Amino acid sequence: MENSYCRWVLVCWVLALCLGSQGARCQLTPNFYHSTCPQLYYIVQHHVFSAMRAEMRMGASLLRLHFHDCFVNGCDASILLDGSDGEKFAKPNLNSVRGYEVIDAIKADLESVCPEVVSCADIVALAASYGVLFSGGPYYNVLLGRKDGLVANQSGANNGLPSPFEPIDSIIQKFSAVDLNTTDVVVLSGAHTIGRARCALFKNRLDSADPTLEASLADSLQSLCAGGDGNQTSALDVTSPDVFDNNYYKNLLTEKGLLSSDQGLFSSPEGVASTKDLVETYSSDSERFFCDFVRSMIKMGNIPLTGSDGEIRKNCRVAN
Ligand code: HEM
Ligand SMILES: *[C@@H]1O[C@H](CO)[C@@H](O)[C@H](O)[C@H]1NC(C)=O
Ligand SMILES: *[C@@H]1O[C@H](CO)[C@@H](O)[C@H](O)[C@H]1NC(C)=O
Ligand SMILES: *[C@@H]1O[C@H](CO)[C@@H](O)[C@H](O)[C@H]1NC(C)=O
Repeated sequence: MENSYCRWVLVCWVLALCLGSQGARCQLTPNFYHSTCPQLYYIVQHHVFSAMRAEMRMGASLLRLHFHDCFVNGCDASILLDGSDGEKFAKPNLNSVRGYEVIDAIKADLESVCPEVVSCADIVALAASYGVLFSGGPYYNVLLGRKDGLVANQSGANNGLPSPFEPIDSIIQKFSAVDLNTTDVVVLSGAHTIGRARCALFKNRLDSADPTLEASLADSLQSLCAGGDGNQTSALDVTSPDVFDNNYYKNLLTEKGLLSSDQGLFSSPEGVASTKDLVETYSSDSERFFCDFVRSMIKMGNIPLTGSDGEIRKNCRVAN
């Protein structure tokens, strides 16, 4: 991050976070495993890189995994816990969240070089950052030292994760429930510059002939989704599907957002009132987008674990 505006904003913000809030949040540091597991970065990087070489989309999937972890009981790897009452089976995650096997492979390697040292929640946070970086997005120093939660929270996932069908105001509320503000909503939605979504999640806009969906894109999505079971996928960023850039925002200006919740940031009445201006800013200033994205990712990665103190899981799929 060579830009000095960026550096200044970040340093100030991280300091404010640490000085201003209860001690728990300050426990995260970039050097947490410096002496206990120096191989950590290499191992995570290696696995994310080869997974993305096999399938570029995996970078996006790992980013989303971190988001869906953090929004439920904090960033505590609760999403990784197996069991039909777990978060994996919650509506926003079932047949949708991907990347569990990549995390397992990383954890297996780590257990052989530094057993019971690195939390699964930290692995997910780091993997997400490499997913962004290897897609062409910004580098950032991930704060580490999270603990793994002891329980999953399926109803928390059903209620706390945003749906693409809900109005922008209600999405803003779900973010504010985890201390993320309207700026964070807009900038983190920019994660949809990479990755894919299934027809089932945007077919509503085709069925109702959404006037804020550009006509030729509507046509091609119509034929993509026709007669299928809802599992066919489209790129979320139809302009540059696998590249982390600010085309997501440019698309919104030309009504080429894929989900209702994407286009709504620019076109819905609530979006016009609260988020449209920022969409315009990011569409014309990719440096500002990268810089704010990093700040919001660090903020999201700091959502504190709720309830118990947590542990370092031996197997990411089960509590010790
Ligand atoms: C603002 C509210 C959000 C809504 C309503 C939303 C909704 C969705 C939906 C419906 C999908 C497609 C799921 C599927 O096809 O099964 C998706 C994919 C994705 N989301 Fe979001 N999302 C939101 C915010 C975020 C945030 C904050 C991030 C990360 C910081 C994120 C990252 C992603 C990524 C990377 C994908 C593609 C995943 C892949 O290809 O495997 N989203 N999102
Ligand atoms: C599950 O998440 C909800 C918030 O959505 C929270 O109120 C509740 O305390 C959580 N339950 C457990 C067992 O952590
Ligand atoms: C959201 O929080 C960031 C700091 O994390 C702040 O710079 C920004 O102005 C806030 N945005 C709104 C709309 O309050
Ligand atoms: C999509 O795929 C999943 C998993 O393979 C399957 O259970 C489901 O019935 C399919 N169809 C829809 C509409 O989700």
